Amino acid sequence: MIRSVTMAAALAVGIAGQGIAQDSPFGTDADADYAQAVWAQMVAQRLAGDGMIRSFPYEGVAPHGMMLETFYSSAEVQGHTGTLIVKRNFGPEGVEVDQVLADPGKHLGAYTVMFQREKGYDEDNQNWFWAKYLPDGSLDMNPKGMRLAGRVAKGADVGCIACHSGAEDYIFTTDAPMAMDAMMK
Ligand code: HEC
Repeated sequence: MIRSVTMAAALAVGIAGQGIAQDSPFGTDADADYAQAVWAQMVAQRLAGDGMIRSFPYEGVAPHGMMLETFYSSAEVQGHTGTLIVKRNFGPEGVEVDQVLADPGKHLGAYTVMFQREKGYDEDNQNWFWAKYLPDGSLDMNPKGMRLAGRVAKGADVGCIACHSGAEDYIFTTDAPMAMDAMMK
């Protein structure tokens, strides 16, 4: 009796979010669902997927790609409209602009994305939602098998939040107010 209860509990933990506690700051089922909704907006705006618009790739810095494209937009996700920033990361090391432009699909490594969620989502970090997608739209994972979506990796010394907290408004590329912020003023 006791044994079967233990087994059922173990099974339930295994099924729920690949063993990731559902109160974790990121990588939960809710984070993955939200990331899918953000991805749908990215595809609808042609920032990702087949037929995506192109821009001139520029040289990147670690940990992002060797060549980058960055887009600033806004999107409505689950009833909330916020700033959406999409970065495309191209590789491998040594890749040239012409190679990326000639065959972007071959050189695309990942999309790293920031979306500013509703108030109260993560007041410590200006309510940014962070996600890293593989080119097919699935979520990349950290070495522990946690999906990279949500408050990544809140409380840790390294990761999206730790590094971006060194930038004004968590945005490295520009200090300009984003379109959504300007609209709300
Ligand atoms: C070690 C530092 C570091 C880490 C970790 C990091 N980033 Fe960045 N990120 C940068 C830098 C530097 C830039 C500016 C690069 C550029 O475009 O020239 C940047 C740019 C970006 C941008 C474009 C907006 C901006 O800040 O200018 C997005 C979106 C982004 N990162 C998402 C992520 C996500 C999502 C993660 C985690 C999966 C992540 N980053 C992890 C350093 C980091």
